[in-house]
Amino acid sequence: MSGHGDAQPMTARKSGPLSGTAAVPGDKSISHRALIFGAMAVGETKITGLLEGQDVLDTAKAMRAFGAEVTQHGSGAWSVHGVGVGGFREPADVIDCGNSGTGVRLIMGCMATTDMTATFTGDASLRKRPMGRVTDPLALFGARAYGRQGGRLPMTIVGAANPVPVRYALPVASAQVKSAVLLAGLNAPGETVVIEREPTRDHSERMLLGFGAELHVEKGAEGHIITLKGQPELRPQTVAVPRDPSSAAFPVCAALIVEGSDILVPGVSQNLTRNGLYITLVEMGAEIEFQNPREEGGEPVADLRVRFSGNMKGIEVPPERAPSMIDEYPILSVVAAFAGGKTVMRGVKELRVKESDRIDAMARGLEACGVTIEEDEDTLIVQGMGAGGVPGGATAATHLDHRIAMSFLVCGMAAQKPVSVDDASPIVTSFPIFEGLMTGLGATLTR
Ligand code: S3P
Repeated sequence: MSGHGDAQPMTARKSGPLSGTAAVPGDKSISHRALIFGAMAVGETKITGLLEGQDVLDTAKAMRAFGAEVTQHGSGAWSVHGVGVGGFREPADVIDCGNSGTGVRLIMGCMATTDMTATFTGDASLRKRPMGRVTDPLALFGARAYGRQGGRLPMTIVGAANPVPVRYALPVASAQVKSAVLLAGLNAPGETVVIEREPTRDHSERMLLGFGAELHVEKGAEGHIITLKGQPELRPQTVAVPRDPSSAAFPVCAALIVEGSDILVPGVSQNLTRNGLYITLVEMGAEIEFQNPREEGGEPVADLRVRFSGNMKGIEVPPERAPSMIDEYPILSVVAAFAGGKTVMRGVKELRVKESDRIDAMARGLEACGVTIEEDEDTLIVQGMGAGGVPGGATAATHLDHRIAMSFLVCGMAAQKPVSVDDASPIVTSFPIFEGLMTGLGATLTR
């Protein structure tokens, strides 16, 4: 797990043109779900392209603790022998989800409607994050939660012995909360309904349909109304995990700001609930060609040809786009620093409760690199300095946050002076091959 070992400082220096092909690993969100839905199906689910990042490995371990047989057969090739909806056994020990909010929140959901007790914990970052957003709706099913003040981990969930179905309107735009409610609804009789005002990533809905659940989505004035019929028998699936658009963001953005770059990033998801960053970059004037659009692993994907773009302009990012690019604001704020004019990111207060307070982490690190920032609770504004205009020459604090670490390393590849991060070890949670992949493209990274 990240955050349990020694800090690993890393430095990025102004790099030669990036070139070549950046084959990024499997999607983190889909990888967690493939393991969890596989564990809730009856029989053997086969997975290819699974992200073998620490977050996902922690979820695999958790599924074993609940009684599923999870086996690695080769690189990215895994199988899960599931125990069926309601078939989990009570774990004999504390479930440690490491750095992963997705892991812990989804797993709480899938055990909350079975008659058992489980205790969850995580690393120092995860232990700061709010769990009330998940335990509030789980209480409506009849589950009880006992955690630290502020709804923090470690936390014990006593599952509902006689769960009732729930109708729940999400108070925050969160795919994790939506998914936790749907997973809990699987083992409740009758129909569980989740209403989301703004669409968030829809991997759980797609996968539930794939595994044979009865689910339908209605689009109305209230937003999306998702209805799930409880207590289905889920059928095992073969899941081909597509590449992660949130990981692809790092080589894509590096190529945009490192002079002379020209790279290909194959198989990047164009799922409308995930592609907000790519729309935003194009609006800023990024040279990205979307080649060979097709479907892979049930997701629309394209190969991205990305060239250095020295004339990008800052824009106002529409707040309603936030859910489709929520993990990409840190790297977008780096690109914004190399664009001309201001980039205004409003409606982003959810960033304050991610692996770190990402508004604060980006603001402090970019300021240390010589960039002017304005911020408030819900807003981040970056004053761009143009291509090659960021001074750099600083060390950013990463606060156990993989995306903060990778964002500042990308910044250092194009800044005038090197940029260091105090700890690159969290990168293994989502993008274990980041260092090799980026140096393979021509980036200069040193430990
Ligand atoms: C995720 C949902 C997002 C995202 C996280 C992964 C998921 O969180 O930030 O990295 O897999 O459902 P929220 O849904 O809480 O915004």
